[in-house]
Amino acid sequence: MDAGCPHRKGEYVWVKPQNATSEFAVPFGARIVRTEKTQTLVCDDRKKQLWVPAGDVLKAMHITSQADVEDMITLGDLQEYTILRNLENRYAKQLIYTYTGSMLVAINPYQILPIYTNREIQLYRNKALIELPPHIFAVSDNAFQRLQRHKENQCVVISGESGAGKTESTKLILQYLAAISGKHSWIEQQIIEANPIMEAFGNAKTVRNDNSSRFGKYIEIRFTPEGAIQGARIQQYLLEKSRIVFQSKEERNYHIFYCMLAGLTPPERQRLMLQEQSPSQYHYLSQGGCFTLPGRGDAKDFADIRAAMKVLSFKPEEMWSILCLLAAILHLGNLRFKATEVANQEAAEVDDDENLKRVAKLLGIPVAPLNLALTQRTIFVHGEHVTTSLSKESALEGRDAFVKSLYDGIFVRIVRRINETINKQPDRPMNSIGVLDIFGFENFDNNSFEQLCINYANENLQQFFVGHIFKMEQDEYQNEHINWQHIEFQDNQQILDLIGMKPMNLMSLIDEESKFPKGTDNTLLEKLHVQHGNRSIYVKGKTTQTSLFGIRHYAGVVMYNPLGFLEKNRDSFSGDLRSLVQRSANKYLVDIFPQEMPMDTAKKQPTLCVKFRNSLDMLMRTLSQAHPYFIRCIKPNEYKEPKNFDKELCVRQLRYSGMMETARIRRAGYPIRTAYRAFVERYRLLVPPTGPLEKCDCRQLAQQICLATLPADSDRQFGKTKIFLRDEDDASLEQQRSQLMLKSIVTIQRGIRRVLFRRYLQRYRQAIVTVQRHWRGRLQRRKYQIMRQGFHRLGACIAAQQLTTKFTMVRCRTIKLQALSRGYLARREFKGKLAARREQQKEEQQKLVRLKEEQELQRVKQQAQKEQEQEQLRLKEEQLQVQEAQRLKEEQEQRLKAEAATRNALAMAALQQPKRTKSLKQEAPKPPTLQARMSLPPPPTTLIVAAPLATRPASQTTAKTNGIVPILESPQGYNDVESSKQMVDDVFGFLNDEPDVSGPLGPNVKEKSLMFERELRLRRDVPTKLLSRPVNYYEAAPRKIVNQTRL
Ligand SMILES: Nc1ncnc2c1ncn2[C@@H]1O[C@H](COP(=O)(O)OP(=O)(O)OP(=O)(O)O)[C@@H](O)[C@H]1O
Ligand SMILES: [Mg+2]
Repeated sequence: MDAGCPHRKGEYVWVKPQNATSEFAVPFGARIVRTEKTQTLVCDDRKKQLWVPAGDVLKAMHITSQADVEDMITLGDLQEYTILRNLENRYAKQLIYTYTGSMLVAINPYQILPIYTNREIQLYRNKALIELPPHIFAVSDNAFQRLQRHKENQCVVISGESGAGKTESTKLILQYLAAISGKHSWIEQQIIEANPIMEAFGNAKTVRNDNSSRFGKYIEIRFTPEGAIQGARIQQYLLEKSRIVFQSKEERNYHIFYCMLAGLTPPERQRLMLQEQSPSQYHYLSQGGCFTLPGRGDAKDFADIRAAMKVLSFKPEEMWSILCLLAAILHLGNLRFKATEVANQEAAEVDDDENLKRVAKLLGIPVAPLNLALTQRTIFVHGEHVTTSLSKESALEGRDAFVKSLYDGIFVRIVRRINETINKQPDRPMNSIGVLDIFGFENFDNNSFEQLCINYANENLQQFFVGHIFKMEQDEYQNEHINWQHIEFQDNQQILDLIGMKPMNLMSLIDEESKFPKGTDNTLLEKLHVQHGNRSIYVKGKTTQTSLFGIRHYAGVVMYNPLGFLEKNRDSFSGDLRSLVQRSANKYLVDIFPQEMPMDTAKKQPTLCVKFRNSLDMLMRTLSQAHPYFIRCIKPNEYKEPKNFDKELCVRQLRYSGMMETARIRRAGYPIRTAYRAFVERYRLLVPPTGPLEKCDCRQLAQQICLATLPADSDRQFGKTKIFLRDEDDASLEQQRSQLMLKSIVTIQRGIRRVLFRRYLQRYRQAIVTVQRHWRGRLQRRKYQIMRQGFHRLGACIAAQQLTTKFTMVRCRTIKLQALSRGYLARREFKGKLAARREQQKEEQQKLVRLKEEQELQRVKQQAQKEQEQEQLRLKEEQLQVQEAQRLKEEQEQRLKAEAATRNALAMAALQQPKRTKSLKQEAPKPPTLQARMSLPPPPTTLIVAAPLATRPASQTTAKTNGIVPILESPQGYNDVESSKQMVDDVFGFLNDEPDVSGPLGPNVKEKSLMFERELRLRRDVPTKLLSRPVNYYEAAPRKIVNQTRL
């Protein structure tokens, strides 16, 4: 809350109307959005935000005004603006009906709402008024129930501006009553069918309403004691006659003319001499420039009117007579006059014989007298009849006056005819429900005699309404045993007296002046000023409106222009014409103007004022004998649009409807009245706890509450069932209650906020723990995965190391095997070369032998010398051979060594990779054990070793030259044991010892190997598997693995 603004944010308040100059601008309801020192931001009911000066926020909205209510009498703050806001909010929800006590407010929806169906008729049947949401059927049903229960007349007064929906409401009531009376008889049909006929002759299109009733009517539905409709009676008031001869722009004449032109058959039109079908061809129909109505078919309407007339027992000749008179009116409108001069005086003559003849024919009167009656006037002066010529303007006025009276006569006659049909037993006493569809209060820019009559009627109705409301108030006070004598209320009796009740009232003055031959509108105004000028409710025109007079009506001041008052009040037409039509051949016309008025008694004709007052008095008498219901129709906008609520227009209507009188009467007494229980329920919190309400005396408790909270001298009363309070006491109670509530609300809010915050905190903490748990789990899982990955990597490194070691070993051995194989191949190549050389030497020796033989001959001759040379040569040769043998032996030793190494390598590979070599084992023979090799024929490897020996020439193997041990071969090609051992030693022994190229292997080496073998065999811990293979003395020591810890 801001220091400058006493209202809180979110509070509903009333705000002064902004930028409004109109007298109908009223405070509007809004909600505070933000408050600042000098201004306040408010949001109105249309959700529009606006800044207003802080001072424009008038007051807090009463709790009952914050939401809409069905009965506005329950509004704690019953004001014009609270009523308006309530109506606006409900209208926005398409709730067009709202009660104000026993009055029903109906806002025109300007759209068809689905609320008048059979379902609604059944729903509202036999229900109390407040039982269901407000509805026009509820009012109708209530009137019907009351009629049956109390056997008393009921009346429903419907009022409102033009276009507010009075006629529609009247029709709805009649439909409802026809539906619930339940007989579906012919009379109900006739009553309902009377409506289109009345509307055709009495309704017209105006700028405000396409189907505006230009007359007031009171329909009385008469019921039998059993509740069935027995008949009806229609009373009509003040038909607007000026419309027959003149229409404003965009307005039409009465519907019947347009329907007739559109709906008549050509022969009928021919008979009526209506050659032109278009309304634009008729002066009386074309002045408004509007000929058709949107959504309405004139031809179809004419068929309906004819059908309705048949239902209401109109005879064909009767219908035809009416049509003749209507056609005559149209021809009269087209009648042209010519200005002339007779005896130096203005005169007029008819300049249109054809139309004159048509009119004469249709009216059933001769042409010549008609011509004279239209252009001359006979007056009665000093006991003599004097005939004067009329000027053209006067002739036109006389014609129009005649037409107005003629049409009014037709209308009255039709209503009378309808009544003859639907009001079967007029004298039989019967209860009735009357529905009054009458024009509302009118205040135009130019108000004439009609407005005075209408407003007088409305003043009467307002008085009736106020009386009813006040009476109801009194009834309530009396029922509650409240002292109401001191409650005073001002009604509008003063205005009624001024206009039409007391002597020298306005109407009687107008009447007097109308009858006075020299009376004019100005003399009338002077008389009015003189007579009533000093009264507070009479207003004299200001300097700019000197020719006006005004009356302070209940709905506001209305200024009247007296121009034409007297003429309108006289409500007559030329006596010549009147006497002429009396002699007409048209019976219907004669029936309309029945009395033959002698010229000298013309002054005694009742004026309009008299006629109107008489019918009004009759109406008021009828109403006062009935129990009334009031329906106030409101027009929401001037554009006939749905969902458009013009506030100022509605305020004006509320004011004119006199609805505020209810509030005024209430405020004069005790406006706030609440049942004890409801009162205690609402305010018990202002006193200490009292226990359950069922066990309390609510009246006593209410008194306690008032004692505790209100000043001792406050004006309050305790009725039988209700407590009666004045506005200020109610406001005080509300304020105390809201303060206490606010305090309690803050306390409750504090407690609830504490609980909510704790709950929030706990959930927050729990959430945090959950999040932490998940994060920790995630962290640990991540660590574990890293560790597992490390272990996997370590295992891979170790495996790689082992594989590398294995591979290196295999590689070394392979390289060694390759070296030995290469050695073997090199030696074999060398042997080949050696053999070739020996061949060569052999050939050389043979050459030498041949040379020797050749030289034998010479030897004889040179014996001595030659023998010496031969001896030398032989020696040299032998030396060469020894060297050669020596070299061969060395080569053999080398080869054997390589073979042994190869065999060892194969054996090792077989041992280490048994699986891999399994297939090989099947293909390659297993290396034989030493024993096997000793007993069995030599293995293929030995064969490889022995192969060169086997191929050696026998001469060379058997011979032992120069210390070389010859290798013995068995006759089968196998060596014996000793020779095999010898061979082993020969082959492998050199691998242990230092290679000895000087001579053959000594016995010590052989012995050494045998001894070693024996020792091994003796040792039990050495596996025989090892001994089964040739002892490898030369197995290389395991290679040291360096750089082992590679990870
Ligand atoms: N309850 C309603 N539902 C739907 N439309 C309605 C209702 N009441 C009135 N209207 C509409 O408003 C128009 C004017 O209504 P209505 O003729 O009853 O006004 P009125 O008060 O009789 O006016 P006037 O005084 O000019 O005769 C109707 O033609 C109709 O279109
Ligand atoms: Mg109407």
